[in-house]
Amino acid sequence: MIRKLSILDVPQALELSSAAGWNQTMRDWQRVLLLEPEGCFCLERDGRVVATTTAVCYEGRMAWIGMVLTNPDFRRMGFARQLMEYALQSLRSRGITGAKLDATEQGRPLYAELGFTDECLVERWHHPLSPSAPLTKPILPRFPTFHMDTIAFGLSRGDLFGLLREEKWVSSPELGFAFTRTGASANYFGPCLATSESNARRFVEWSLATNPGLPLYWDLFPENTAAVRLAKEFGFQPARRLVRMSLALQAGAKLPPTDPHAYYALSGFEYG
Ligand SMILES: CC(C)(COP(=O)(O)OP(=O)(O)OC[C@H]1O[C@@H](n2cnc3c(N)ncnc32)[C@H](O)[C@@H]1OP(=O)(O)O)[C@@H](O)C(=O)NCCC(=O)NCCS
Repeated sequence: MIRKLSILDVPQALELSSAAGWNQTMRDWQRVLLLEPEGCFCLERDGRVVATTTAVCYEGRMAWIGMVLTNPDFRRMGFARQLMEYALQSLRSRGITGAKLDATEQGRPLYAELGFTDECLVERWHHPLSPSAPLTKPILPRFPTFHMDTIAFGLSRGDLFGLLREEKWVSSPELGFAFTRTGASANYFGPCLATSESNARRFVEWSLATNPGLPLYWDLFPENTAAVRLAKEFGFQPARRLVRMSLALQAGAKLPPTDPHAYYALSGFEYG
């Protein structure tokens, strides 16, 4: 049976993401549900949540698909396909014009069969033990306005940032902004938008100083060579490669392109 995922299902949903070795915490699942209570679905077998798919909608126009997971004991039985088809149908009936996602190697064949096409590469970089870099110049925190993100992403994501506000963040109108948040196996640097590479360096220094001696993940667009340069400079290593894919859900719909050069760090595979 396919049904909406509820906040009460979060412990079971977390078991699925943990079994896949993903970094999401209980709070990450709660946040996705808070952001999109109508767009998160699960497939239940004998009273157990065995597969999930979430679709967070931005500006009521474009959906970001994430958390596509099937319990390892129930794979290759068509569950992910059924849930994806259900979620896409629900988005179409709500008038959402398109969907995007970051696909793992395991998920990509399914998305391609459903009509998604490749947009660009996304990489996860990892630092096993973040060095405590000295801050060259501290940044005075002022909660960001998200104008830069709206321009670079093509849609406003104010609700997402409103929820991420409970995590650690730093911002200045001249430099841009950055967040870091807790993860299950490593803390997470991102999102980060910066007005220049040298300003982005200050945000990286801040994120390392905020997570001293802790493992850290950083997702970036390899096309943004400045971000790659910084990741290497601070000792991060590439850990995983995903493919960003998109699908128009209404005839003739054009999805807003993301500007990879504005993003020094992404928001997370479940948010884009
Ligand atoms: C990807 C995943 C969700 C697929 O779940 P599933 O319920 O087994 O998928 P389905 O049974 O609906 O399979 C649908 C199609 O996906 C593809 N697929 C599924 N598992 C695959 C695998 N291990 N390798 C290659 N292709 C695979 C196939 O094209 C399959 O079509 P088929 O029916 O012709 O075999 C599951 O393997 C999983 O949870 N993986 C770990 C988390 C992950 O990577 N999620 C995707 C995030 S983008």
